[in-house]
Amino acid sequence: MAGNSSDTGIGIQNLVKGYVLGEERIRILNGLNLEVPAGKITVVLGRSGCGKTTLLRLVGGLEQADSGEVNMQGIKPAIVFQEPRLMPWLTVYENTVFGLDRKEVSAQRQNVEKILSIVGLEKFVNSYPSQLSGGMQARCALARALAVKPSFLLMDEPFAALDYFTRESMQKELMRVQKTLGTGILFVTHSIEEALLLADRIAVIGDGVVKGTMDLFSEKTGRELTEESMLHCRNTVLGLLAVQK
Ligand SMILES: Nc1ncnc2c1ncn2[C@@H]1O[C@H](COP(=O)(O)OP(=O)(O)O)[C@@H](O)[C@H]1O
Ligand SMILES: [Mg+2]
Repeated sequence: MAGNSSDTGIGIQNLVKGYVLGEERIRILNGLNLEVPAGKITVVLGRSGCGKTTLLRLVGGLEQADSGEVNMQGIKPAIVFQEPRLMPWLTVYENTVFGLDRKEVSAQRQNVEKILSIVGLEKFVNSYPSQLSGGMQARCALARALAVKPSFLLMDEPFAALDYFTRESMQKELMRVQKTLGTGILFVTHSIEEALLLADRIAVIGDGVVKGTMDLFSEKTGRELTEESMLHCRNTVLGLLAVQK
């Protein structure tokens, strides 16, 4: 289907990335392969420091790989960082249109208003970031990313700094937004619970590669992490996380 982004995914092949630290060259990603399906939530799960942010930055084009490929043909990505990164001197509305071209701002007014209402900020369009709670700031960061009409959201532990209840409500919110708009999501986290709750596909990374993937496509409606099938998934994920060189 031409023009419909929802049928192209992201293909990551043999991705290698290292950094030079002093005399040493450290490999962070070591030939990583991953298929990220369109229109679904793919969660990359791994321990702190395993290279999740590096992977996301490579996919988002913020960094160059040493070798390997990220096939993003037909994909328009938008990144949501761990911190909301809002401009304190701009209102919610102004922050949301920040990534748009000047001439797009007026043309996109209806779309932007729709997005702000989807993320539940319609009553706060004229508020400043300092007047918002952490959850509302996270919503605004999500709205700003959605305003450019991306076919993929690249999300780097966007809810990690939120308290338990806000985080839980943002996870639900994200699933609702994803269903409403059909945007593909590549979401990285170190939280097993977050991965199990959100993912259509979980990719566990360690030692610079994907240790294993698990598809949960059929188990999405009102997931209870205490259910037998989810406990089984949890054990599989724990097993993959435990395998380290
Ligand atoms: N620009 C950089 N220069 C040197 N080392 C880096 C750089 N960026 C990340 N690293 C190192 O790469 C490793 C992976 O980092 P990162 O991708 O941020 O992991 P994660 O997001 O999974 O916690 C860490 O050991 C980190 O110190
Ligand atoms: Mg990180």
